[in-house]
Amino acid sequence: MDSIVVTGGVRLKGQIPIAGAKNSCLALMPATLLTEEPLVLMNAPRLSDIDAMGLLLRSLGVHVQASEDGKVITMSSNGPVSTMAEYDIVRKMRASNLVLGPLLAREGRATVSLPGGCAIGARPMDVHVAALEALGARIELKEGYLHATAPTGLKGAKVMLRIASVGATENVLMAATLAKGTTVIENAACEPEIVDLAECLVAMGARIAGAGTSTITIEGASRLGGASHTVIADRIELGTYMMAPAICGGEVECLGGRIELVRTVAERLAEAGVSVEETGRGIRVARGNDRIRPINVRTEPYPGFPTDLQAQMMALLCIADGESRLEETIFENRFMHAPELMRMGADIDVRGGTATVTGVKRLKGAPVMATDLRASVSLILAGLGAEDETVVNRVYHLDRGYEHVEEKLGSVGAKIERIQN
Ligand code: UD1
Repeated sequence: MDSIVVTGGVRLKGQIPIAGAKNSCLALMPATLLTEEPLVLMNAPRLSDIDAMGLLLRSLGVHVQASEDGKVITMSSNGPVSTMAEYDIVRKMRASNLVLGPLLAREGRATVSLPGGCAIGARPMDVHVAALEALGARIELKEGYLHATAPTGLKGAKVMLRIASVGATENVLMAATLAKGTTVIENAACEPEIVDLAECLVAMGARIAGAGTSTITIEGASRLGGASHTVIADRIELGTYMMAPAICGGEVECLGGRIELVRTVAERLAEAGVSVEETGRGIRVARGNDRIRPINVRTEPYPGFPTDLQAQMMALLCIADGESRLEETIFENRFMHAPELMRMGADIDVRGGTATVTGVKRLKGAPVMATDLRASVSLILAGLGAEDETVVNRVYHLDRGYEHVEEKLGSVGAKIERIQN
């Protein structure tokens, strides 16, 4: 398994282009199942999670083709499709469950493996199931698979989500576009990726109002057509690269980043003494010689501080001048990076969902282990700000969510190298 070796202590300077959003693209790709016409996604990120979704869709019978540079994905399924999403694919990537709603809407049935737990928590599917049942689906759990049927089709209904789950909102939104009548999703997730999905569905002919708010209304259509859609910028990649100059010092302009995607992140960074400003082309982040100020951060659904940037923020707060508190409210077990950061000299006390981080002047390089996607990158960032060399082992998670991380950080001066083991 590959490792990433970073040598800390270099100030960063330059520009980093931000890719299309992984989490948007993973929801947009299954939308191809809602039409027999081609769906073309532009600005797709080049990531192993996107390849995995491509594989899953191919296994269902969708024709999936990526351009040579991987940025344009063309999909079409004008023939019969399989309705079975196998465990072997789903277990590797939870977002595979996003084929459930579209398959049910198209074929009236779907058999989708339960994803199982992952490093950051149990991540159940009950909200997805209850929402699709509200549209008239019958769903049974047998041998680890959700067996869903809607023999007489899905019918629009009022759907109240128990929690504002991103994936459940996406699943029911897609399913409702082909249901009979009107669906109203209450307590819907408001993430920008939901808005991106809704815009693509509207371009395909769906009638949707309220995406980006907690109430989404969908008027079902009898069919949807093809579309070409440009994937929005990845706010998590953006936030990650905004943390890099904050940790290392220097100045980085994140090209293509828009402040409304990361407003809370920008506010927290400014509170910590980091300069964040919009340029015509993106967002410039800079830090001089002053120490980072300690701050308190609580993860929340959008527009709050994203859980997917909590590990990176922890890496920054490890070198703050005082005590910070990080509260994780979305996932129950998302501090696995803390013990790894402590191997680098960080002072972190985790109690339940709260981590108290007492800043030290500098971290020290060490061999560390990546436990999940965002933890991997937080260890790289920590290493870039640390003394000497840090070896981040087991980085396969990284390629799921960050394209060309070594090139992007290397191009702004970071000393970073991938070792293929
Ligand atoms: C999406 C993102 C992920 C991000 C997360 C929260 C994608 C592909 N992934 O994941 O990067 O960290 O949003 O912003 O877009 N839950 C239940 N029952 C359910 C569904 C969810 O209890 O049926 C719980 C989860 O365990 C978790 C919380 O709800 O604690 C939020 O999960 P959810 O919003 O569904 O996250 P995902 O869509 O899986």
